[in-house]
Amino acid sequence: MKNCTRQEKIRLNMGKDGWSNYSPNGELYTFQLSDGPIGLRHHGENGDTEPSIAYPSMQMLSHTWDMGLVERYAEALADDCIDHGVDILLGPGVSIKRLPTCGRNFEYVSEDPLLAGVVGYHYIHALQGRHIGACLKHYCCNNQETERYWISAEVDEQTLREIYLKPFEIACKAEPWTVMSSYNRVNGVQVNEDERLHRILREEFGFDGTVISDWWAVHRPSKAVNAGTNLIMPYDEKTMEKLMSAEDIDDSALEENNRRVIALAEKCEHAKTLRQSKLTILERRQIAQEIEENGIVLLKNNGILPFKDKETVLPIIGNAAEQYYRGGGSSEVKPELPYEKLHESLQKCGATGAHFAWNDETGTLQNCVKEAKTAQAVIVAVGNSHIVEAEEKDRETLRLTKEEEFYIHTLAKENKNVIVVVYAGAPIDMSTWIDEVGAVIWAGYGGDMVNRAVAEIILGEVNPSGKLTETFPLALEDVPAYCTERTAESVYYSEKRAVGYRYFATEKKAVLFPFGYGLSYSEFFYKDLQIEEQEDCFDVIFTIENTSDRDGKEIAQLYIGSPETNYFELKGFTKVNVPMHSNRQAKITVDKSLLQNFDVEENAWKPYEGRYEFRVGKNCMDISLRKERVF
Ligand code: BGC
Repeated sequence: MKNCTRQEKIRLNMGKDGWSNYSPNGELYTFQLSDGPIGLRHHGENGDTEPSIAYPSMQMLSHTWDMGLVERYAEALADDCIDHGVDILLGPGVSIKRLPTCGRNFEYVSEDPLLAGVVGYHYIHALQGRHIGACLKHYCCNNQETERYWISAEVDEQTLREIYLKPFEIACKAEPWTVMSSYNRVNGVQVNEDERLHRILREEFGFDGTVISDWWAVHRPSKAVNAGTNLIMPYDEKTMEKLMSAEDIDDSALEENNRRVIALAEKCEHAKTLRQSKLTILERRQIAQEIEENGIVLLKNNGILPFKDKETVLPIIGNAAEQYYRGGGSSEVKPELPYEKLHESLQKCGATGAHFAWNDETGTLQNCVKEAKTAQAVIVAVGNSHIVEAEEKDRETLRLTKEEEFYIHTLAKENKNVIVVVYAGAPIDMSTWIDEVGAVIWAGYGGDMVNRAVAEIILGEVNPSGKLTETFPLALEDVPAYCTERTAESVYYSEKRAVGYRYFATEKKAVLFPFGYGLSYSEFFYKDLQIEEQEDCFDVIFTIENTSDRDGKEIAQLYIGSPETNYFELKGFTKVNVPMHSNRQAKITVDKSLLQNFDVEENAWKPYEGRYEFRVGKNCMDISLRKERVF
């Protein structure tokens, strides 16, 4: 920018409005930002949200453990961005799911930093491969919504590095065009004012793009500008006044921030010339459906599933079967399609006897009970709406509503084959009813195509293969992070690295469902573990056998840790297609750089030393194969 006054330079540090950058004298390309990350939430010219494809949530995407699908998800989204003239999509979110109650967990990937980082990496890589910029968010320690604008995450250095920064470190390798700094404070310092966190991002993670503040996150603009917040979003008059009158803005910071915003605008301008949407709307919906089919997790099955008798009566009960359930807040997409109800989807897949048997207004639970007595199975659809799981608040309980639990108990008394379908974005406490029902399907927030995929799983056209990427505890009080000290200003991460399965598996504490868990209609066995050391990595090779009469997909996981402390961490995974009655060899390659811990005294990563065990299994608590190595 030639001959910019200091005022213009300061002005450039903040957006033009809610969704684009300021352009002095119209000389700079004006880029368009839009939410993300689970569908496009683009504001049209009159400010209304334009309808778009609603994709399965990030939770459902992560349940696929399939990086090919992650890339296809991002490519479909990129095409949506191209169609709507969007340059940068505000996603992916890779914040760690520290608390199962966090209102935005459905937008995040996992409680595990490796998995969160790897999914983030592939999402960014594919989105940007189609010339749409990504925005990696929310950097960092934005792990709860309660008091999110001010809360300080009090976290020790080793935990910060190994758990909370790790996903960003991994995802940054895909060179995101932008990173969004989070609302909260870390160890007392507002993230957008935190020079050290910005330095780690730039110097250690090699981030070379533009740092954008979360919306209205900047309270002291000159401090944020000086620390490396390149673009304050959105435009806000009061904040701009503060900026213009500030006397402590560092010239070099201003120059640097301007350089980053200009570089981003130029990158977007060039990218626009390269963009071409490739997938038809139908193809994008097919991708959404395929991801949902792969993301659904079969949590329990007494053998009623797959449901074979397509013509028999199959009553369906519960609001969630009739209404589109999704999380609320900035990621809430306005779906394009009229919602296909569960009985419609089942009928389209051939289940002629499937029907919605319950109507809230006429209160016909009694009729349902009558039907349940004679039906072969009953479907009960339950879950959380966008009011329950949403931005700016956390859930107070993991339980369903009293009414929903009552329907389940009542119908389960009449019929041993109650199939519960759960539409939600984060763990549900099922402990009061799980033993009474025949089957549980986790449909999650599945987007537009959710019920088509659920119907295919129920009828066995799709063999379930999704596995959980977070622990489902038996009770909220079992979660260490939930029990640590919290004040209005601070939350103490005193559980340290004992987040999710890192606590439950280490302590052998019972859970409802462990991290990595999910059933299939096939049966798999693991055998013949070998570990081959290469220069930079280990190849972990084993065989998976499918002894059933169905082709299936199995997600195998590798955990490495010390047998003395029993502290094990996910270090790799693979998803293998195994045809019925056959074996397939599986290989997981672990880069040696992953076999390190952060040494606080030396302020550096240190390779493992001593005796370690490699464990391969179906989930973190179901280990089939083990081998030791001394490092
Ligand atoms: C959210 C961001 C989002 C932004 C813009 C904020 O409230 O935290 O994730 O991208 O709004 O909608």
